[in-house]
Amino acid sequence: MSALAPLYPQHLAVLQRRLESALAAHGFDALAVAAGSEKFAFLDDRPYGFQINPHFVHWLPLTQAIGSWLLLRPGARPQLLYLQAEDYWHAPPATPSGYWTDHVDVEVLRTPLQLQARLRELLPARCAQIAEGDAQLDFAGTPNPEGLLAHLHFERGMKTPYELQLMRAASQRAALGHLAAKAAFEAGGAEADIHAAYLAGSDQAERELPYGNIVGLGAHGAVLHWQFQDKQAPATPTSLLIDAGASCQGYAADITRTWLHPEGRGEAARRFAALWQGMETLELALVDQVRAGTDYPAIHLDAHQRIATLLLDAGLVHGLSAEAAVAQGLSSAFFPHGIGHLLGAQVHDVAGLQIDRQGTRRERPAGHPYLRLTRRLEPGMVVTIEPGLYFIPMLLRELQAGPLTGHVDWAAVETLQPFGGIRIEDDVACRAEGAPENLTREAFGRLQA
Ligand code: GLY
Ligand code: MN
Ligand code: MN
Repeated sequence: MSALAPLYPQHLAVLQRRLESALAAHGFDALAVAAGSEKFAFLDDRPYGFQINPHFVHWLPLTQAIGSWLLLRPGARPQLLYLQAEDYWHAPPATPSGYWTDHVDVEVLRTPLQLQARLRELLPARCAQIAEGDAQLDFAGTPNPEGLLAHLHFERGMKTPYELQLMRAASQRAALGHLAAKAAFEAGGAEADIHAAYLAGSDQAERELPYGNIVGLGAHGAVLHWQFQDKQAPATPTSLLIDAGASCQGYAADITRTWLHPEGRGEAARRFAALWQGMETLELALVDQVRAGTDYPAIHLDAHQRIATLLLDAGLVHGLSAEAAVAQGLSSAFFPHGIGHLLGAQVHDVAGLQIDRQGTRRERPAGHPYLRLTRRLEPGMVVTIEPGLYFIPMLLRELQAGPLTGHVDWAAVETLQPFGGIRIEDDVACRAEGAPENLTREAFGRLQA
C-alpha cells in the first residue's frame, strides 16, 4: 500500500478540479457527502451489511464510517466530520490513520447531534448534499441534484492513477481467491467448499466482497447470477463457473473463470473443452479492443459475431451465416447479457449510458437490452470484458419453439446442458495509447511467475 501514498494527493487534486467545475456549473458553493446510515431488518434490530456512499469512497479510503460527513468546498482541503461514538456494544469506527490523513482536515465528533450542529455551522446557503434518503439533512443542502450528480458521475468513469492502483490490489486479491477455488473444485468440493476456499484464498470475510459470489457447479453455471451454494458435491463434477471479486478500500475487482473438471471424459467434455478454448481466444481478442476512442457497443456487437462463429464452427448451429445468427437473435439465446460494464467504487459503476457531463443518455443498440455501457472509451476507464456462452433451459425452450429451431443441433446442445455454460471475465484499463492493461491477467501472471 505504500505505492498509494504519493498517488493520493494527485488523486485529490483531480477530484478537487472536477468538483470545482461541477459546483460552478450548477450554482453551488459547497458539497456535503454523507457516508450513509445503517439499515435494519424489518421489525428487528439486526443490521444489514453497511454499504458506504460511493461518492465518499471516491474521496477517502474509508468503508466503515456510518454517520460521518465529508464537506467539499472550492479552494479548501476536504473536511471530514468523523463520527466516532463511544460504544461498548459495537466497535466504534477506527481512529483515522494512514497516508490520507495528511491531506484531509479531520474533526472527530462523538454524537450525531454534535455532528449535525457542526454541519449547521459549516454549510453555506448554496450547498448540495449527496446522501441516501434516511441520511439526508433536513436543514440545509439540496439533496442529490440531478445535474450535479450527472456531472460527477460522468467523470467518475475516468480513474486516476491512485484508483487504478487500488483496483490492481483488488484484482490481486481476487486472483488468489480464484486459484484457491479452482483447487477446491478439482479436489471434488461442493459449491459451499469452493466458496469457503475462495474467501480464505482471497483473505476476505463475506461482508467485504463487492458482490455475492456466484459459484455454480455444472448446470448451475447456466443461471447467470446463481445465488446459492449447495453443500452437497455432485457425484460426477463437470464444470465450475465462478464469478467472484474482491475489494480494496472500496474499489472492486469482478472476475469470472470457468473450469472443466480434469477428470471430464467423453464427447460432451471434449466439446465443452473446445468451446472453452474458443471463448478464451475470443475474450482476449475483445480485451484487446479496449482502446481510447473505441465505441464500447461495437465490442459488444463484435462479441456476438464471434460467439455466433464459434457456435457454427462447433457445429451447434448450422445453415445460416454468423451475421444472420446475430441479426435474428440466435446468438442472444446463448449470450443473453452485455459484454461488460464500467467498474470502480461500484461493481456496475455509474454513468454507463451517459455520454456527457450534462447527462445525455445514449440508448443501447436495438435487441441488446442488457448492455450496461454505451460510451466511447477514454483513457483511465476500467471496464469488464465478459463474454458468455450458456445452455439456459428457458432460452433454449424459446429457441426450440421459434423459427430458428432447424438451425440448432439439439442433440449436441442437450449433451452440453450438464456443463451449464462458460463466462470468462477480465477487468481491463484503457490507456491513452496502445494496448490496454489487463488487471486480471496481470494479477494471475504475478502469482504464476
Ligand atoms: N459479477 C457481476 C457481473 O459480472 O457483472
Ligand atoms: Mn461484471
Ligand atoms: Mn462478474
